[in-house]
Amino acid sequence: MIGQDLLGIEPLERDQIELILETAERMQEIATRDVKKVPTLRGRTLINLFFEPSTRTQTSFEIAGKRLSADVVNFSASSSSLSKSESLLDTAKTLDAMDPDAVIVRHPVAGVPQRIADVLEAPVINAGDGAHEHPTQALLDMLTVYQEKERIEGLTIAIIGDIAHSRVARSNVYGFSKLGAEVRVAGPPTMLPAKVEELGVKAYTSLREVLEGADVVMALRIQNERLGGAFFPSLREYSATFGLDRAKLRFAKPDAIVMHPGPVNRGVELSHELTDERPSVILDQVRNGVALRMALLYLIAGRSGATPERE
Ligand code: CP
Repeated sequence: MIGQDLLGIEPLERDQIELILETAERMQEIATRDVKKVPTLRGRTLINLFFEPSTRTQTSFEIAGKRLSADVVNFSASSSSLSKSESLLDTAKTLDAMDPDAVIVRHPVAGVPQRIADVLEAPVINAGDGAHEHPTQALLDMLTVYQEKERIEGLTIAIIGDIAHSRVARSNVYGFSKLGAEVRVAGPPTMLPAKVEELGVKAYTSLREVLEGADVVMALRIQNERLGGAFFPSLREYSATFGLDRAKLRFAKPDAIVMHPGPVNRGVELSHELTDERPSVILDQVRNGVALRMALLYLIAGRSGATPERE
């Protein structure tokens, strides 16, 4: 994968996903060391180019790069020449002229990472674009499920909430389906995309039905910043119908785990209890995000022949 873009899960082959997950498992050990740093990407330069707020993705890409000894630059859009009317593509080309080894892009508009990748020499990693894809989130979700359940093939994954506006849902539908899981989605009819079954999933508008037999329950955030209109009567009604708590979780398998990409609207899509306590694995997802992004940076921005743990 050296020098290749990662723009989505849709174009990936199953063996590429498995390679990324296996490499991430090797990277996890580095976080347990007294000195959490290896020289694998020494001399490499990474640019975080985020045009939308982020806590988990930006910080974990930064930590991942630093644990691999790369030089990491966090580009600040608000203090850049974008505020002097420089275009997005000119900004990207300007940064590319400084010879980075990978550029990590988040943007509120779907397709922007692809447009940037089209004009850059450096490989581009999509850190979330509009309602299109969030491939690194889906990969860390797959890693988390694999480590919890010791398999993905044959599992039933229920994704609940604002499916239509969720890049996390799209990337997870592609990823878990490629690895042989049954993926179900559920939400208010206004939050299910038209022809959602064409993505290879089963769609439900009943929480009880989508949960029956589920091994993994993934709640999604209500994305007020993307809704731009009323898709359900009130947050209270949404929570009553699709919000998860321990009582409703009983419809799923007894050993079902609960996931959420974060940030959580506590008391809306998840109860406080299910946000904080097992079977919630939300903080495991966050922790795995560092190892997963280390694996991607190693695979995409590394030197051929280098091993993950050392040069
Ligand atoms: N899951 C996720 O993308 O979170 P951030 O917006 O905090 O990066």
